[in-house]
Amino acid sequence: MVTKTKECPQTCVEDLFCGVNTVSDIEQATDLEKKHLPLITAPKKVKKGDYFEVTVDVGKLLKHPMEPGHFIQFVELYAGDTYLARMDFTAKTTCPIMKVCVCLDHDYGKLRAFERCNLHGSWESDTDIQVVE
Ligand SMILES: [Fe+2]
Repeated sequence: MVTKTKECPQTCVEDLFCGVNTVSDIEQATDLEKKHLPLITAPKKVKKGDYFEVTVDVGKLLKHPMEPGHFIQFVELYAGDTYLARMDFTAKTTCPIMKVCVCLDHDYGKLRAFERCNLHGSWESDTDIQVVE
């Protein structure tokens, strides 16, 4: 079942375009959830001030269409609430994978990835990362 990252006061849980969707249990994920979850690949521990690579892959669990009528519009990466990077996509000629080099000067909290599907709304996932001296 699709869950929301924050509870909406209108409780429109079934509306994919209300709020941000996420997956509470990846082992029980539906095909819709597998297609939309932006999976983050990054080190669990990084050294303060050193660049490291982060990959955000939409459709890693199950391929998402990239057709003119249905495609992933963009992916964004945050460290906690701090914006890091964004990549816009177009149908037919791109696949929704973003690779970016990141350098953190302190612990900001979890890495958070967002993606937007034109038919199925916004989705988020996160992963722990530790910034050490
Ligand atoms: Fe979609």
